[in-house]
Amino acid sequence: MEENYIKAKDLLKKYNQEQLLVCYDKLSKENQEKLINQILNIDFEQITDLYEKTKKQITYTNCKVEPLSYVDKYKMSVEDRAKYKQLGEDIIKQGKYAVVTMAGGQGTRLGHNAPKGTFEIGIGIHKSLFEALSDTLKKAMKKYDVKIPWYIMTSVENNSQTIEFFENHNYFGIDKKDVKFFIQGELPMVSEEGKILVDEKGLVKQAADGHGGIFEAMYKEGILQDMENRKIEWIFVAGVDNILAGMVDPLLTGLAISQNCLAAGKSVVKRDPFENVGVFCKKNNRPSVIEYTEITEEMAKQRDQNGELLYGESHILCNLFNIKSLEEISKNKLPYHSAHKKAKYINEEGKLIEPEKPNAYKFEAFIFDAFERLNDMAIMRVKREEEFAPVKNAQGEDSPETAKELYLKFIENKD
Ligand code: UTP
Repeated sequence: MEENYIKAKDLLKKYNQEQLLVCYDKLSKENQEKLINQILNIDFEQITDLYEKTKKQITYTNCKVEPLSYVDKYKMSVEDRAKYKQLGEDIIKQGKYAVVTMAGGQGTRLGHNAPKGTFEIGIGIHKSLFEALSDTLKKAMKKYDVKIPWYIMTSVENNSQTIEFFENHNYFGIDKKDVKFFIQGELPMVSEEGKILVDEKGLVKQAADGHGGIFEAMYKEGILQDMENRKIEWIFVAGVDNILAGMVDPLLTGLAISQNCLAAGKSVVKRDPFENVGVFCKKNNRPSVIEYTEITEEMAKQRDQNGELLYGESHILCNLFNIKSLEEISKNKLPYHSAHKKAKYINEEGKLIEPEKPNAYKFEAFIFDAFERLNDMAIMRVKREEEFAPVKNAQGEDSPETAKELYLKFIENKD
């Protein structure tokens, strides 16, 4: 222990991060050990590099951006639809299909003091987001008469609470053996001066490493292996906060197979050229997503001969991956992006600081950065009101209120 303490101290000195030991003397033995371990596991070169990048403006001047073609779910020919449906249903019925729900986010905008999936938007009697998603899954299992394994990505912060929630709700009637949790990675948060922050407990302040952390986590936590053991071939991945996510989709699967693609994504039409959403595109001939912060006004307004926006296919975080593509993607880390956030921390004098405006950087990988590692992707345009009801904000747009309305409409119209 003493030896590790000295090692940690030397490291902190070398990287000018000695504030991390500010609470050390006041910590319990167990937390002292935890803190030292955290420090020894920090990749200080990586953190320094990520911090330096926060000062640079990212430019995409060397990148060729083009539209990515898509198929409209409601404009397919009868023959194509039948073909895709058959191909996709075969995969599902043969038990080669799994679902992953990403539930590791902090849900800061919603402000719910528990894992986001436990939030109730006011449908049914105490129906949580997790329960609403479990309903979709159970319905599909019944329809196709097959087990569909459900993998749930959590974070260090919310993992035990999430599992407890599932335990308390008897896994919503799903066989416990078919629900697996896995914890995503995390990275330290740094101040605007590049200092790694100390959290309220006196430990290193860490935050989940973004939804792009899914690939590394699936590999490290043995999820890919579990899928291989179960002979899973296609994996649908979506966030926990879209209660209309069509998680079991034979058409999308059949489309991907027909187009010979190892991944697919659903899109909805951008509401207007300036809606704050990322859109599917090709970057240097590879599938990708261009964020609303990156797209020029001219590109955002461009239309095709039918009057449709050229860059109008919004990425709604509903994607399908073939297991082969997941193996490929998880071999190498995705790049990290920085987000400027409000973060409580203990300063160098040991005082708790509760900022009123963003004061720190959080580093996150984005799932769509993985698309560029693939040759191509099949995109299926779906209807927003049928498949996209996100719960992001406490009020207003994309809030429990709007999601509830969409959910009730969809459920009423569906069956
Ligand atoms: P968001 O980017 O909307 O983040 O995540 P969030 O955590 O839900 O909310 P804010 O930004 O803090 O208000 C979209 C989806 O990706 C998951 C979230 O749980 C959500 O389902 N996610 C996000 C993760 O699983 N891990 C992450 O590190 C980030």
